[in-house]
Amino acid sequence: MSQFTVLILAAGQGTRMCSDRPKVLHELAWVPILQHVLNAAKALGPARILVVTGHGAPAVEQAFAGEEITWVRQEEQKGTGDAVRCALSALQGVAGNLLILAGDIPLIRPEILNELVKVHETGPHQLTLLSTTLANPRGYGRVVRGMDGHVQAIVEERDANAEIRSLREINSGIYVVSLSRLAGWIQQLRNENAQGEYYLPDIVGMALGEGGVNSVHHDDFQSLEGINDRSQLARAEDVFRDRIVARLMASGVTFTDPGSCRLAADVQIGRDTTIFSHCILGPGVEIGSHCQIGPFCHLEASHIAASVHIESFSHLNGAKVAAGSHVGPYARLRPGALLEEGSKVGNFCEIKKSRIGEGSKVSHLAYIGDADIGRKVNVGAGTITCNYDGKNKFKTVIEDGVFIGSDTQLIAPVRLGKNSVIAAGTSVSKDVPEGALAITRSPQKHVPNWHERIRARTQGQK
Ligand code: UD1
Ligand code: CA
Repeated sequence: MSQFTVLILAAGQGTRMCSDRPKVLHELAWVPILQHVLNAAKALGPARILVVTGHGAPAVEQAFAGEEITWVRQEEQKGTGDAVRCALSALQGVAGNLLILAGDIPLIRPEILNELVKVHETGPHQLTLLSTTLANPRGYGRVVRGMDGHVQAIVEERDANAEIRSLREINSGIYVVSLSRLAGWIQQLRNENAQGEYYLPDIVGMALGEGGVNSVHHDDFQSLEGINDRSQLARAEDVFRDRIVARLMASGVTFTDPGSCRLAADVQIGRDTTIFSHCILGPGVEIGSHCQIGPFCHLEASHIAASVHIESFSHLNGAKVAAGSHVGPYARLRPGALLEEGSKVGNFCEIKKSRIGEGSKVSHLAYIGDADIGRKVNVGAGTITCNYDGKNKFKTVIEDGVFIGSDTQLIAPVRLGKNSVIAAGTSVSKDVPEGALAITRSPQKHVPNWHERIRARTQGQK
């Protein structure tokens, strides 16, 4: 490829989103729409990437602060042609070709762009546009071709008559142009149209007089669909998910109901793992082989080793689960939860910033926060680490082999020595020596004939 530059148009308000947020910052699979476009552009290795911002520009520029981008401002959004005009001064003296992309086509694939640039470079034309055919072309600019099949014009839906509206070939909004001609065309743009805007596609008509226009028609219409409203955004989520699922299934992962799941692009899953319906696997999720992730689980930024079983309705964020462990149903693992090999966290248990040692069990209704639990510990139902005094957090240490009875409070900072036993209903506020029994319950008393006495008393009142 010879030298080329990329220009992404992202200044529009995105009126049809009905949102306070700039359209290109709306997220598709946890990532801003514009980031997807940017990633595709970067994959081509252009000399430089320019992005035109306008509506919500500070927020957009801040969201991409870490990227190598030349920002261009379009103060007033007067159309896609005007947006390109705003970039002309930044492009002055730059030679070669310019790939122009809209910032609202997040499903675009680098392969498609590559092909377009190559076609432009090898042909004699000054402009090459990318089109596709849609079953429902509503809202798009239509590609009008002459009898000879050559492109004659792009007509926006709002300026189109019934005959043109019936055409299903649409302008993708992606073009490659020769930089030597661009400024001349842009200066000739007029805004005499239904929207009173300067339309970039009007340069097609100008390029026709200068050696013609080339076009590449792509069948993969899904990759070219723009996001203008929230239903298009939801549909794009489905397409994006289908791509990730296809990649994972091809590598040996089973999805029992892929259409009900949502997945981030970076999700990694080992072979022979089964993902049941309605799972949400967000960014930073790594799952080993031979695992089962039950229905309605939500995982983010978590590492799951091999042969782990996570049962339905569990929520994991920032957790690390070692091989052969069992989680859920209805478990919550918060940041810093570390489950070592063969451990178990059962229903209605919350674990935060705590290690659960090898083979240890926290099976029912517990809160474990800021704790370090050793090997083969049994944490009884309803055990709570009281780690917070309203100001500071304190640590609980539970050594190997400890047995904690039900309904126990561990008032941190506190240490339970190796093999100690905590009787049910105990409030532990002092360290427990190794092998000792700790019990704080008051002795059980019996008041004889209680039922009889109460009855006699209430009858006397009548
Ligand atoms: C545009 C094309 C249409 C094409 C469709 C493909 C025009 C006039 N029409 O329509 O032919 O079929 O894309 O998706 O170009 N933008 C600016 N500044 C502006 C206006 C828009 O930067 O003043 C940016 C937007 O942020 C957006 C992109 O340009 O990323 C396209 O604008 P949009 O309003 O979505 O154009 P469409 O109506 O979709
Ligand atoms: Ca659009």
